[in-house]
Amino acid sequence: MEYFGEKHRAQWKTKVGFILAAMGSAIGLGNIWRFSYLCYENGGGAFLIPYFVALLVVGIPVMVLEFSIGHRERGSAPLAFHKLRPSWEWLGWWAVIFVMFGIMLYYSVVISWCVNYFRFAFNLSWGKDPNTFFFKNFLGLTSGPGEIGDIRTPILLGLIIVWLVCWVIVFFGVEKGIERANKILIPLLFFLTLILVIWAVSLPGAKTGITKYLKPDFKVLLRPQVWISAFSQIFFTLSLGFGIMIAYASYLPHKTDITQSAILTSIGNCIYSLIAGFAVWGTLGYMATAQNLPIEKVVKQSIGLAFVAYPQAISLIPTFSKLFGVLFFTILTFAGITSGISIIEAFSSAVIDKFHSSRKTIVSVLCILGFLGSIFFATGAGLYFLDIVDHFLTSYGLVVVGFLECIFIGWIYKTEKIREHINDVSPTKIGKWWDFSIKYITPVVLLVLLITSIKDELSSPYGNYPVSSLILLGRDWVFVTFFAALLVMKFPWKKKTGQ
Ligand code: ALA
Repeated sequence: MEYFGEKHRAQWKTKVGFILAAMGSAIGLGNIWRFSYLCYENGGGAFLIPYFVALLVVGIPVMVLEFSIGHRERGSAPLAFHKLRPSWEWLGWWAVIFVMFGIMLYYSVVISWCVNYFRFAFNLSWGKDPNTFFFKNFLGLTSGPGEIGDIRTPILLGLIIVWLVCWVIVFFGVEKGIERANKILIPLLFFLTLILVIWAVSLPGAKTGITKYLKPDFKVLLRPQVWISAFSQIFFTLSLGFGIMIAYASYLPHKTDITQSAILTSIGNCIYSLIAGFAVWGTLGYMATAQNLPIEKVVKQSIGLAFVAYPQAISLIPTFSKLFGVLFFTILTFAGITSGISIIEAFSSAVIDKFHSSRKTIVSVLCILGFLGSIFFATGAGLYFLDIVDHFLTSYGLVVVGFLECIFIGWIYKTEKIREHINDVSPTKIGKWWDFSIKYITPVVLLVLLITSIKDELSSPYGNYPVSSLILLGRDWVFVTFFAALLVMKFPWKKKTGQ
């Protein structure tokens, strides 16, 4: 008996196409402003130390793991786990379910904000007070998560565009849709980012911002929170624990270089973040200098950085400020779209594998459901919902999936068998260090991270939100998606023979 799509599985046309798609998934909204802000908040240049340690200790080993199981088992996350051990199939389902019906719902809303800000940049609509404009006029922010408010029409319209674009791309499949879109969008993204960086660093006062961004404050390395931030950022930014990299690697031809692809994708993503940081901090340095204020006064919070502080800085640029704004929000939108499509693909590929549904039907139904679900985050309380769901799904979804992947491969299935496969097909061989990493280092680090986060959670409610909202939106989102995974697992796999 043969699993559906085993013989005639879609394939990337070129290796470059695969690398660009994997990078497109990794490089997202998180790279451009979240990374820069984290750097600033966690000791400037010193943050780069835990960040790159996290890249080496968790990022690259788990990327190699996800690529190799996807490639070896030629299946989406649920199929890959099912083939390795049927009782572990749920892990694959859980990842693709909470990512699609959790992360993607609010991720698409943030892309919709970018689409709207792209439009606003043409006439600097945020005016003199971008803070009031963003929170009050644009988001219509209510007093708390208990007051849902109304659906924001511009965000809703932006959502229609975002889901439509994602639908068209994934609808046309791996080669004609996803690969083609990434081959256009990623080089364009790199090119536009380079222009923005050069422009930003040549603004007067940019040096003040860049110094702030890179100046190390080594004392902070003693704070566990700095390490936690670095490790969770690596997970999110590399799209690990999403089920995406497993599905993407399943479309590779038999002979391929898994090790090299994993290293290239991981390092490429982090270098992109590092470079994009110059654009963000150069611009903020300019703003601080132009207003004669210390940089701490112009930067307050992470969300504010892209939608409040940055628009304010853009307005101050004397020449071609609108073009600068358009460029910045185009970059964010492109980065968001290439990550969004990878999330939709990870889920679609799982349903196609299990139920043999036609790609066109499943992608269409999924995008309609996704659009409807994301409206919840387009309300006046959307920002609160987003913040809570993001916190719980990143800390207790992605990190737990990564941890369990290491336990499963390291202790139950055995890393040696997977390493044998990698070294069989890849010209770049991987040594025993990888086994050690997956068995001991990565799971121990992730476990410490989880325990510390749970302790924090219990000692003070996240973001000072009402506990009932945290339970309903945070904890229950994690649990409901988990039970949904167990339920889907109960359905039999449709096999090729005896259909
Ligand atoms: N890896 C994607 C990002 O950083 C999801 O936004």
